[in-house]
Amino acid sequence: MKKITIAIDGYSSCGKSTMAKDLAREIGYVYVDSGAMYRAVTLYALEHGLISEEGVIDEPRLRDAMQDIEISFQFNPERGRPDTYLNNTRVEDRIRTLEVSNHVSPIAALGFVREEMVRQQQRMGREKGIIMDGRDIGTTVFPDAELKIFVTASAEVRAQRRYDELTAKGEACDFQEILHNVEERDYIDTHREISPLRQAEDAIVLDNSHLTIESQNQWLLDTYQRVIEG
Ligand code: DC
Repeated sequence: MKKITIAIDGYSSCGKSTMAKDLAREIGYVYVDSGAMYRAVTLYALEHGLISEEGVIDEPRLRDAMQDIEISFQFNPERGRPDTYLNNTRVEDRIRTLEVSNHVSPIAALGFVREEMVRQQQRMGREKGIIMDGRDIGTTVFPDAELKIFVTASAEVRAQRRYDELTAKGEACDFQEILHNVEERDYIDTHREISPLRQAEDAIVLDNSHLTIESQNQWLLDTYQRVIEG
């Protein structure tokens, strides 16, 4: 069967990665979470003292460090999805903390960071048969993707999902703080100068505020099949 490229973009915490990884498993594609790559760069910057207490990024040092940052993924059968590795160390849990979430948007707005990430992402997608989710996949990384989805849901619904996720992991958190973080990231992601989050003209929009995971997965599988048969 012909292999295609599938780009899934949308706001933070709207369930993109859940639907992307489930479809990848169903149809035997590689799944890449591009947000995890920006999170890994952020973790590196935090751990190497490249972000001050006030949140100021040491751009010259981070620019130099980019050549020492290698991000890769290894499928974890227990989780049914790939884990993120930073310089061959598993960082999957450490990149999901609120501290990384609070610092990632300004890091993802830097041109030299995006350039390097997009280069690595395009390399991963050379052979097609890939599903990548993020903010600029259908617009910048794979503008020729055969299937593009733009996912959206209300900020409150998304904050609740992130709250449930963190609580389930035993991380103490506050709903209002998470809602604030979601809204702030929406603003930065859609207003940054380079590759802002926007819907590609040829993307199909999915508002999943009131959809169960099962019905969303079915919708995505049906949409994929229509494209493959078309
Ligand atoms: O999807 P996520 O919440 O893990 O993404 C983390 C951050 O990375 C988010 O603030 C937006 C940014 N990002 C991006 O700028 N471009 C992408 N392709 C993916 C994520």
